[in-house]
Amino acid sequence: MSELESYQGEATIEKVASLCRRRGFVFPSSDIYGGLGSSYDYGHYGVLLKQNVKAAWQRALVQEREDIVMLDSAIILHPQVWVASGHVAGFSDPLVDCRTCKLRFRADHLATCACGRKPSKLAGQTDDCDLTEAREFNLMFETQVGAVRDEASRVFLRPETAQGIFINFKNVTSSLRVKPPFGIAQIGKSFRNEITPGNFLFRMREFEQMEMEFFVPPAEADEWYRYWIEERRNWYLNLGMRGNHLRVRAHEATELSHYSSGTSDLEYLFPIGWSELEGIANRGNFDLTQHAEHSKTKLEWVGHEERFVPHVIEPAAGADRAALAFLVDAYHEEEVAERPRTVLQFHPRLAPVKVAVLPLVGNDSALVEKARALYEKLRTTMSAEYDESAAIGKRYRRQDEIGTPWCVTIDHDTLTDGQVTLRDRDTLEQVRVPIESVRGLLLDRLDEPWTPSR
Ligand code: GAP
Repeated sequence: MSELESYQGEATIEKVASLCRRRGFVFPSSDIYGGLGSSYDYGHYGVLLKQNVKAAWQRALVQEREDIVMLDSAIILHPQVWVASGHVAGFSDPLVDCRTCKLRFRADHLATCACGRKPSKLAGQTDDCDLTEAREFNLMFETQVGAVRDEASRVFLRPETAQGIFINFKNVTSSLRVKPPFGIAQIGKSFRNEITPGNFLFRMREFEQMEMEFFVPPAEADEWYRYWIEERRNWYLNLGMRGNHLRVRAHEATELSHYSSGTSDLEYLFPIGWSELEGIANRGNFDLTQHAEHSKTKLEWVGHEERFVPHVIEPAAGADRAALAFLVDAYHEEEVAERPRTVLQFHPRLAPVKVAVLPLVGNDSALVEKARALYEKLRTTMSAEYDESAAIGKRYRRQDEIGTPWCVTIDHDTLTDGQVTLRDRDTLEQVRVPIESVRGLLLDRLDEPWTPSR
């Protein structure tokens, strides 16, 4: 059995999407109107998960370093930004239309379609296709600013966060204490009118990116490129991602974007096969040079007896795609005491809820009071839940399915010995610990390196 086949026995996109919907992580967008293709709304646990992914990224890139600063630029930028960046001219996919079924396909996908079927059949139609010539279709969403609808008011929703960083190079270098090598990091929404979106959160038309542009002296570009590939790979591994489901793939010369002299993808073994999780590109001085030319503004580093246009290394990740990879990676089905159990084995730092406090029974006021007091103490420093409904086994299963790493149960003995039962989501081990030690113990565990038990 191949690695992919054995893997598909566990998580599939359908199973993960179904759990996400059932447990309030992610809903199809505009659901009551029949949905809007490839748009999703995040529910409570999905919001918390994605927030934790973004927080882990910011922690690793900004908080735990001294050479990267944050930025939050506008989504709608001056339209010339996208002319200078090359997006107006070149951010497109080649498309063909079918005159019979009126559907639109990516010409490059047709050419590589392994099954050899006609595109109309791929889309569930029966007629043979009558295809037009391929035409370039720009992926940027357009809109208008102001009251007049004319060419001058045409603007774009950003298709990447990166350009907002380049155009702020001068602002950042003149206001903050930075000096190459240094980075500017940004998290935010991007928009692409993708023609073949799909596979749940993998490819959407509205998504969040986590991008960082690292400005370096030109001679150091190669070294930093290699450094960031390794650094970003380790970020996923440190968050518990299976090492054998993560690989680095260097782009062939023919795949490189117009701006790049080298790109490597971090690929994850999604249930749909190895696919891009994040790209790390050596963008050279392309962007700063382009914006300097188009804006007539000098964009260079001037320091002690030196002056140069920095080269840029860019690790570009997707927050939704990373969340999907962590969901798929964490998804696990097993039998416990002859009963099926589905569990999301997230790294504790990514888990939407860190701890659930459960009185053994909900109709004993002494237990309820003790449990609520502990819950209120815990929730000031970590995301916690209190649950007194249903049988204890059912409550554990619910927490397993949302990936809560620890459950604390208060029982009748607690009232006399001051101890509670701490249950581990993955090993199912249960230990008795003093009630006063719970908070410190969990805070320590959240800070310790974590290795999955799977
Ligand atoms: N600034 C470079 C850039 O945007 P990209 O490879 O087009 O590079 C970076 O995008 C990352 O953004 C991808 O690796 C992926 O994680 C995420 N991404 C891109 N398009 C996406 C989409 N349609 N839906 C979800 N995530 C997407």
